Amino acid sequence: MMKTILKTPKMMLRRRKNEKIIRMFDHRSDENISSNSSPLKDGFGRFKIDEILEAPGLTERMRNSSIRMLPTGESRVYFSWDIPNFIWEALLNSRTLYKIVSEYIGPGVRLDDIYVKNVADGYNATAEGWHNDNVGYRLKLFMVFDTEGIPSATVVRPQQRPNLYNVNYKEEFFRTLKSKDMKSYPDEITVDYKPGDCLFFDTNLQHRGSYHAGNGTRFCVIAEFIDRNKSNALRGKAPCGPKQGRGSIEITSNGENIDLINHHLIDQSILQQTENGFRYGYQ
Ligand SMILES: [Fe+2]
Repeated sequence: MMKTILKTPKMMLRRRKNEKIIRMFDHRSDENISSNSSPLKDGFGRFKIDEILEAPGLTERMRNSSIRMLPTGESRVYFSWDIPNFIWEALLNSRTLYKIVSEYIGPGVRLDDIYVKNVADGYNATAEGWHNDNVGYRLKLFMVFDTEGIPSATVVRPQQRPNLYNVNYKEEFFRTLKSKDMKSYPDEITVDYKPGDCLFFDTNLQHRGSYHAGNGTRFCVIAEFIDRNKSNALRGKAPCGPKQGRGSIEITSNGENIDLINHHLIDQSILQQTENGFRYGYQ
């Protein structure tokens, strides 16, 4: 316990430095956004996987693929950055998706990360308390392609822009004490999942997982979208970038159905061609 308390000032100092970077880029993003009828009202929206990715039958294909792995062991979670090509294809070819993310983040938006995260009930107690992800505006798309039992839900508090990031020192402090704020608020929205559902939200919003609400498993692919210059500026300082900034994602492709080299969502500065495809991330 003492050890974690001693770490707190260091963590807060790091957050304080990041705050400046985040606010600078997010302010630009606020100036860029078209305030018209975005389907992401106040940073939040619920969709269907097959619709947002313009790919009928996609959910079923995901369910029947190798990514439907049950989380085993004590960790209660299965992570993988091995994304089948048909998912890359759908993701990069959907105009609906591109429109939503570019309107929200701005023209500098990039696909920042994509991974499979299958979660069984009882996972990740720290995310049970209200928090934001400490990276400012960033969209996360949760594509829930299957469920077993009644999986836990996500609770979000939508908020109008501008909603510039501030370090929440109180929250940081309580988090190091392992104390969780689990209050309920009148404006909160609880999102539970059925196969085929997806949740799109800005991780700058206050959110929390209610991991004890359910008793089941959620099979999910998560894609993250952020301003590329901001993400690069936060490199090594916050978990942004492919593989959460700790490596790169391998994409096996001959470029036939996926055009990574010319794609608006792919940041060319972190894309490398390899023998049998591409590598996306910090090398
Ligand atoms: Fe979070």
